[in-house]
Amino acid sequence: MKVNPATRRLEQLRAEIRRHEHLYYVLDQPELTDAQYDALFLELRQLEEQHPDLVEPDSPTQRVGGTASEQFAKVRHRSPMLSLQNAFDVEEVLAFDRRVRALAGRSLVYVCELKIDGLAMSLTYDHGKLVRAATRGDGQVGEDVTANVRTLRSVPLAIEPLAGLPVTFEVRGEVYFPLAAFEKLNRDMEAAGRQPFMNPRNAAAGSVRQIDPGVTAGRNLQTFMYALDPAGRSRSQWEVLEGLAAMDLRVNPNRARFENIEGVIEYHHHWQQHRHELDHEIDGVVVKIDRHDQQQELGFVARSPRWAVAYKYAAEQQETQVEEIVCYVGRTGVLTPVAHLRPVIVGGVTVRNATLHNEALVNQKGVYPGATVVVQRAGDVIPEVVSVPEPKPGWKMPAKCPVCGGDVVREEPYIAHRCINPFCPAQRLERLRHFAGRGAMDIDGLGLSTLQQLIQRELVQDPSDLYRLQVEQLIDLDRFAVKSAQKLFQRLQESRDRPLDRFLYALGIPQVGSATAELLAREFNTLERLAEADEAELINVEGVGASMAAEIHRFFAGTGGELARRLLDAGVRPQPVAAAPQGALSGKIFVFTGTLERMSRPEAEELVRQLGGKATGGVSARTHYVVAGEAAGSKLEKAQRLKLRVLDEEAFFALLGR
Ligand code: IVH
Repeated sequence: MKVNPATRRLEQLRAEIRRHEHLYYVLDQPELTDAQYDALFLELRQLEEQHPDLVEPDSPTQRVGGTASEQFAKVRHRSPMLSLQNAFDVEEVLAFDRRVRALAGRSLVYVCELKIDGLAMSLTYDHGKLVRAATRGDGQVGEDVTANVRTLRSVPLAIEPLAGLPVTFEVRGEVYFPLAAFEKLNRDMEAAGRQPFMNPRNAAAGSVRQIDPGVTAGRNLQTFMYALDPAGRSRSQWEVLEGLAAMDLRVNPNRARFENIEGVIEYHHHWQQHRHELDHEIDGVVVKIDRHDQQQELGFVARSPRWAVAYKYAAEQQETQVEEIVCYVGRTGVLTPVAHLRPVIVGGVTVRNATLHNEALVNQKGVYPGATVVVQRAGDVIPEVVSVPEPKPGWKMPAKCPVCGGDVVREEPYIAHRCINPFCPAQRLERLRHFAGRGAMDIDGLGLSTLQQLIQRELVQDPSDLYRLQVEQLIDLDRFAVKSAQKLFQRLQESRDRPLDRFLYALGIPQVGSATAELLAREFNTLERLAEADEAELINVEGVGASMAAEIHRFFAGTGGELARRLLDAGVRPQPVAAAPQGALSGKIFVFTGTLERMSRPEAEELVRQLGGKATGGVSARTHYVVAGEAAGSKLEKAQRLKLRVLDEEAFFALLGR
């Protein structure tokens, strides 16, 4: 049989392009200039256009193809994707070493890898083809993001499996956002009037979860792979890493092996000094026992292997100067002072602002315009001023609102200063943003710039006006067309019958967060009953204290009651929430503080409720458990003062049997 000459050339081109993609994206050793590479790619594309029947799904031209649906399908992992135990200092690492030596015997080899601060990813290859990419999700079930991950050029679409692997196997590792690309993305987002990403990890997660794979493709995400399941003939972690590299997957070159813990400590120290030279963030190093047979002997505790530990780095700190202190006005009129800083790179990311919280804290730290300050950034946490080498107290909040010029007052006993003009445009905008936001009425597509325009054109003053908007009025807005206007209109209509708890949260009752809103909704069932409740009735609700009860009562007696009525008149119909299910946590009261890794706080709160427990906003003696995530703050301190049970994330999920 004669082979079509086009087929031969196609195969040649594909092989050559794959080789150059590997050299460029995986090994970082390009042999071609960009123009030479582009020429090959163009030739392949043109040839495929002439022979559409010869196009194959694993061709380099087919990375962006197909579409993800609006909802990513859920996929169950072959084996759970685990997390790691943490060690925060040398003592904890030495304890790990003693523990594993006692269990696995004297002769141990450790493999050290950098702990990439990205997004865990699982890739499934079947008969040498990439068939699925999934996020970690809760460790058991993740999301199918295949269409998007196919666009990452360091992820081979086709590979030559190592001898001894079954036809289907999984590769696991990390997807991350290279720092330079991250900075550029954020500059572009800001230029386009969009909210920049908080940090590279969020940017990576956001990019992997795009509806349009074309957007993911444009983000230049990178990968490092570190696990193989099953391991095939590999007998150690070191062999796994070598095997992955041999299959052309991207493996971090900065790995090392040590026969004792001293080497591990040195490695950790070395990368603490040199982490800024990397093009990605690391939040520690991962120490793994090399030999698989020893790993097996040690096994697992709860959600993490006993044979590995994440030896973390403390938050990054840098010195810089305060250029000015600017006050931002929130939805309740509270002024938040923010230090505008001389830009400084902290942990690889440029920091320009740091929140100063309130006047008292500004002066407690002694921050002033022109001050030299030490700033810190830890993972998801908003940068903050840790200390001021030469403090100078005496900074004062402005007496007039920087946005509307209205009076600024401090209402004892509160520490905050507020602009008391209810018509202040900044407050109006922030109230609307809160109303439409996540966890509240959740009106997708009603972002900052749309709200600004609606206010400017005097189409919307308070949230009830949103429900009187017509499609024609939306079409007129900048960046809107018929379709987008219809879509937003549709979303607004859909939001009319959100559950009562979301509605209450959206109203923005002082002190009432989403957890309290849920308690109130369950207790009172209808908006009318809650609005009529007196303080005594309110205090009776678990999780509601005296000051909160007073606030709720005052809210409904005043402007809040009016707003609620206007919303009902505009056809908003909050739906009753179902009674609390009975379950494993029934009667238990939880408070969450800090950032969780595996799910957002509202999701964790929802989980508690599903199991019959309650999630409240404030720590009190009645709280059963305080779950402290990363960078937990004052709630954790209070819990410790009250000697309450404090769970870390791991212990929380263990309690839930997950
Ligand atoms: S091993 C069974 N190695 O850290 C252990 N994890 O808390 C599985 N991570 O979810 C993880 N770099 O997303 C491992 N070199 C590395 C890593 C790494 C980053 C992340 C991973 C995991 C989390 C563990």
